[in-house]
Amino acid sequence: MFARALTIFALLSAAAAQLSLSQPCTQALTTIATSADANACLTPSPLIPILTNSNISIVEPINNWLTSLCAAPACSNNTLAAIVTNVTAGCSTELSLAGFQSGDTSAVTALIQKYYPDVRNIVCLKDGNTNCVTQTLTNIQDIVGPLTVQTTLALFSGNSNLTELPSNVTCTSCAKAAYNIVNAEVPGFLGANSEDLQAVCGASFTDGANPSGITQSASDKAPVDTKNSGAFTLGALTGATSLVAISSMFALLA
Ligand SMILES: *[C@@H]1O[C@H](CO)[C@@H](O)[C@H](O)[C@H]1NC(C)=O
Ligand SMILES: *[C@@H]1O[C@H](CO)[C@@H](O)[C@H](O)[C@H]1NC(C)=O
Ligand SMILES: *[C@@H]1O[C@H](CO)[C@@H](O)[C@H](O)[C@H]1NC(C)=O
Ligand SMILES: *[C@@H]1O[C@H](CO)[C@@H](O)[C@H](O)[C@H]1NC(C)=O
Ligand SMILES: *[C@@H]1O[C@H](CO)[C@@H](O)[C@H](O)[C@H]1NC(C)=O
Repeated sequence: MFARALTIFALLSAAAAQLSLSQPCTQALTTIATSADANACLTPSPLIPILTNSNISIVEPINNWLTSLCAAPACSNNTLAAIVTNVTAGCSTELSLAGFQSGDTSAVTALIQKYYPDVRNIVCLKDGNTNCVTQTLTNIQDIVGPLTVQTTLALFSGNSNLTELPSNVTCTSCAKAAYNIVNAEVPGFLGANSEDLQAVCGASFTDGANPSGITQSASDKAPVDTKNSGAFTLGALTGATSLVAISSMFALLA
């Protein structure tokens, strides 16, 4: 366990250097990265290549990660709460830069527990045999060039030469299926802009019908919940990044 912790610490240190994370934050990520419960539901190991080599494309590691994550049981609410507690404690500097106050922890925990099943269902959508996140990233990569950690962060923070994606990338069956989930589970989240969406993607995009060829690959196995529950925050961060990516797609449409 100790050797494993050291290895993970080295990997996360490399990632932290890329992302300029503070030492306490890196330490907190390392502590929770060794948790059995978090590993059972977030299955982070396929992401290791991204940590060890900053200039590779993230698409294949993310595809491998989502394949294992979607086949694994969901995280329990206890595991999710442990993730939030340890991240907010260790990464307070990073989070305060993002506008987060430590008093918000219980509210954030409740929000994450509430929306986690929807996020999981969105990132586990498949079009035929292809995961929808993978398909979308591949389509974007075909336009902008290799999606490394740095270029992806630039893309989704708006610091990129990409001003708009073509409608055959934004109006896919995958995007429609994701739209349907968000619209059903979080009414109002995407604003009242269905006219804008219809203008870009056609009237049928917002009709609520299930696009053909789309399936759900999230396993419905019961969560694993041991008493010393833990978390792997990098997985959570990447999940959050996927959500940001999905919302950004909709933002680009609006
Ligand atoms: C990635 O960077 C390393 C050194 O930092 C370099 O040796 C390698 O050729 C690069 N790989 C790619 C695919 O650019
Ligand atoms: C997890 O927590 C959320 C909100 O805190 C609640 O809505 C949901 O029902 C809980 N899930 C389970 C399986 O208890
Ligand atoms: C944006 O920049 C990247 C890297 O600098 C380049 O490969 C790509 O062709 C550019 N895309 C557009 C649409 O100009
Ligand atoms: C989108 O359309 C462009 C131009 O017609 C084409 O080159 C590209 O391959 C298409 N992309 C997808 C994902 O269908
Ligand atoms: C959270 O951090 C504490 C203090 O470092 C550690 O003892 C605990 O195992 C961690 N818990 C989880 C659930 O990761």
